Amino acid sequence: MPFALTPERERTFQELLTRYPTKMALTIPLLQLCQEQHGWISEEVMLFVAERLDLSAAHVKGVVTFYTLFNQHPVGKHQVWVCKTLPCALRGAYDVLHQCEKKLGIKAGETTSNGQITLRTAECLASCATAPMMQVDKEYFEDLTPERVDEILRRLQES
Ligand code: FES
Repeated sequence: MPFALTPERERTFQELLTRYPTKMALTIPLLQLCQEQHGWISEEVMLFVAERLDLSAAHVKGVVTFYTLFNQHPVGKHQVWVCKTLPCALRGAYDVLHQCEKKLGIKAGETTSNGQITLRTAECLASCATAPMMQVDKEYFEDLTPERVDEILRRLQES
């Protein structure tokens, strides 16, 4: 079945159309709306976005593949991003990552077998002063230690 926005998201899209100078400028906001609904950006979603914004499918695919915030495959209900850029790396990012892998029983890039959590690495998430840090869904966790990682993941697994 072709992808379509829910009525509520369709209203949001229509409202966004009045605020952006061109349809092309809506590429990222519309992809975000779609991902919020679908969880990831499938071929059907890319075609939907291309059609609604009068863009080529290749243009939309270029945007999706450029930004790591867009999921190109199905992901877990929650996403854990461990920053591994230099400031975080110097302050223990790889210990944080290994603790996540140990606690979740998966490697970076994988999803737990119950479909709950996807573990990923990220380039600088703009919180270098509080390195090492990770992002869980839309929330930042900073000045991490392996103990705090365990606690954060325990709460996430229970949610
Ligand atoms: S290097 Fe990790 S937040 Fe900037």
